[in-house]
Amino acid sequence: MSTSRFLPAFPGRSAASPATAADNSILVGRDTVVARLRAAGCVFAEDEARILIESAPDPATLRAMVERRVAGLPLEHVVGWVDFCGLRIDVDPGVFVPRRRTELLARRAAALTAPGATVLDLGCGSGAIGVVVATLVAGVELYAVDVEPAAVECARRNLRPFGGRVYAGDLYEPLPARLRGRVDVLVANIPYVPTGEVGLLPPEARLHEPLVALDGGPDGLDVLRRVFAGAPDWLAPGGHLLVETGQAQAPVAWAVLADAGLDAVVVTDDELAATVVIGRR
Ligand SMILES: C[S@@+](CC[C@H](N)C(=O)[O-])C[C@H]1O[C@@H](n2cnc3c(N)ncnc32)[C@H](O)[C@@H]1O
Repeated sequence: MSTSRFLPAFPGRSAASPATAADNSILVGRDTVVARLRAAGCVFAEDEARILIESAPDPATLRAMVERRVAGLPLEHVVGWVDFCGLRIDVDPGVFVPRRRTELLARRAAALTAPGATVLDLGCGSGAIGVVVATLVAGVELYAVDVEPAAVECARRNLRPFGGRVYAGDLYEPLPARLRGRVDVLVANIPYVPTGEVGLLPPEARLHEPLVALDGGPDGLDVLRRVFAGAPDWLAPGGHLLVETGQAQAPVAWAVLADAGLDAVVVTDDELAATVVIGRR
């Protein structure tokens, strides 16, 4: 393998600063990375190889990253970021990796947010939804909550540039009382996988994301019901609540929202396989 095919992947290296003999022993070429990933069962081996090579600061780190990926760690945890709505969001090990389908929820939340509005993200994980809303809408006052310490730390880092305040705890419990009745947009991608289906999730999720980020109880709606029950107290008059659900859960979620006194609609996106239930106080 020629080093010229490999070296440009690493910033600071060029033909004018050739690798030393010691470095040569640890060089890893793109084809080798693709083959290693493919042999391990990665479906998008070419794309993943590109991301790994672009993310690694040096050959030794690339080798270690490839080995972590081959061992089954989610790609996003290996490189430390995810592309979400075209934005690069930090994702730490042990923090739920934002899914492509959740882009529907994030974009709908942004579309319902007026400049300067107060936005609350419950079960924020990395804080990805808040980052999208604060990027697309000027001057939002952003609050976020998660029960997992790793997620809280990660979200604080991602939301710091937007002045976002991130609280640790159970749903509404850690929020300042002054927010009651003041939230214009309440967005929640909270766990909604039925307990009996958690075992069917891909190993990347089951083994590397916390159970509390996945398990939504017997019908998957346990946490969502608590979100719905509290929403009328925290939403401003005319404020919106947006949640992601599974497609089959949407009619139940719609009915629970209606019972809580909110006008509800269901929005779907077939390409993203995404369902969002939206309520208005
Ligand atoms: C499916 S993940 C979604 C994370 C993030 N909203 C996203 O879309 O990437 C659900 C998140 O809710 C958090 N969570 C679960 N139960 C919670 C609760 N009772 N209170 C606050 N956060 C909770 C989990 O820790 C996890 O980060």
